[in-house]
Amino acid sequence: MLKRLLAGTAALLVAVTVPVWGIASQAAGTSPTHDLDYDGTAPITRAELAAVRPVTARHAMVVTAQHLATEVGLNILKQGGNAVDAAVAIGYALAVVQPCCGNIGGGGFMMIHLAGGKNVFLDFREKAPLKATPTLYQDSKGNVVPGLSTKTFLSVGVPGTVMGLNAALRRYGTMPLTRVMAPAIELARDGYVLEKGDVTILDARAQDFAKHPHAAAIFLSHGQPYAAGQRLRQPQLAATLERIAHGGTAVFYRGSIARAIVAASRAHGGILSMRDFADYSVAWGAPVTCGYHGYTVVSDPPPSSGGTTICEILQILAPYPLAKWGFGSVEALHYTIEAERRAFADRNSDLGDPAFVHDPVAQLISPQHATALRAGIRADAATPSSQIKGHLSPTEGRHTTHYSVVDAHGNAVAVTYTINFWFGSGYIAGGTGFFLNNEMNDFTSKPGVPNAAGLVQGTANQIEPGKRPLSSMAPTIVLRGKRVFMLLGTPGSATIISTVLEGFLDVADFGMNVQQAVDAPRFHEQWYPDEVFVEPGLLAPAVQQRLEAMGYRFEQQRLWGADEAILVDPKTHLLEGANDRRRPAGLAAGY
Ligand code: GLY
Repeated sequence: MLKRLLAGTAALLVAVTVPVWGIASQAAGTSPTHDLDYDGTAPITRAELAAVRPVTARHAMVVTAQHLATEVGLNILKQGGNAVDAAVAIGYALAVVQPCCGNIGGGGFMMIHLAGGKNVFLDFREKAPLKATPTLYQDSKGNVVPGLSTKTFLSVGVPGTVMGLNAALRRYGTMPLTRVMAPAIELARDGYVLEKGDVTILDARAQDFAKHPHAAAIFLSHGQPYAAGQRLRQPQLAATLERIAHGGTAVFYRGSIARAIVAASRAHGGILSMRDFADYSVAWGAPVTCGYHGYTVVSDPPPSSGGTTICEILQILAPYPLAKWGFGSVEALHYTIEAERRAFADRNSDLGDPAFVHDPVAQLISPQHATALRAGIRADAATPSSQIKGHLSPTEGRHTTHYSVVDAHGNAVAVTYTINFWFGSGYIAGGTGFFLNNEMNDFTSKPGVPNAAGLVQGTANQIEPGKRPLSSMAPTIVLRGKRVFMLLGTPGSATIISTVLEGFLDVADFGMNVQQAVDAPRFHEQWYPDEVFVEPGLLAPAVQQRLEAMGYRFEQQRLWGADEAILVDPKTHLLEGANDRRRPAGLAAGY
């Protein structure tokens, strides 16, 4: 693999006249302000990237953003559980050991590849409360009220995680709920020792915990932020998980947990009702699929934009010789950025919850549409975003979590789930012990007007009772023939799409191994703002100069999501797992 990377690098040195990628001295970039994030990850040098290797295993592999959750999943597999059993156990475990993002108070998507060849998609995205209206976050003059869709109880969508995990287990798992939930309950009850990677994330929101007594009681230690080495115990969450393990989905949606959330919502000006919980449902469906250079990409359909947008970009890129141009080259960056710009314009204009709007997925990922879009890309210049049709723009954020599992039978599961921002709305209802999402912020607060998170969206994604907000999450499985080749996925809101896309291209076209692909510096173009976000270390100075001369504006970003990926070597069938260097608490492990 490394040879392929280096061969690709050599080829691009021939193909372009300027040196490409790879210098750490470029690290000093401007970092966008974000009230919830830490300082980002140090850039990786070219030499460091050349040296990284994935974890390998013969039978099964688990990769998550928190090492204890990885161990939970691996143990389930070793005990004879399948990938779905492990995925459900991990989903509950991450709710304990990665409380920023792992959750039972949010929602997400599960992509399943069954050993027999079937691909299945499970949508457990949150829904808007029945009392929600398109103008929920506007004042009487029609102005969007800052913070209403992120920091209040009005930001909370009806959570889907518990019903989603339990539905997956019931349909495709082999173990009882009590068994797959037991490790999570133990971790919550007995606690676990925090590592630096865990504390960094808790620290990012310690000041907010202080404002919420229920959160402060759990996530502050005598009123102070936790330090690495301390044990975090969550007895209330343990009790909640116990209730779910024994009472099942009904406890959450019709019983004491729903009642606690509704009571807290009422007490804090929210609009959640018992009916919202009783009416909540998850949806099974078919994934979005597309071909690219002999691979089949299987990803999520609306209400996520992830799979559709990735497939649209890949269809635009397919005829371009990216492999010849090489990673980080002027040409590869130029055409990928232009493809992203055009696909994001479509994404932002056209997509929403399919239960409420018609999503033109087939049209957006069709070869005809790709041909038409390619015709507008100039070889020598960036296209100003104002010249691309559409009227919207997505948001930023790195607060979700993704995990990947492959079992010894050939089943593969990719899950991305979220409470939106780190620690969601910041609210914990009564003694439930878990954070509630602020997923309502993913809706359009007002068409054409940026919401508190900088999101500008249209009517396809306007708030309606019982509707799911448009997501960018993209749990993705790549097949080669009928066999699993890669599993990818990451946090990062709109940057999820670029991260998954580029992780795949880094392997498929640039010959990287899966750890290199996960660790390689990234870029992201989302139509508006009309600038390209780049991770420090991506752009060689001469490449940057040439691209700027073509009209590109770059914004350095140190904060990116964590791609937790698995690759199955097509020749040896060896499993290769890659935990993202950007989440040092994470772990890839197999047997
Ligand atoms: N909450 C982030 C997303 O779903 O895209």
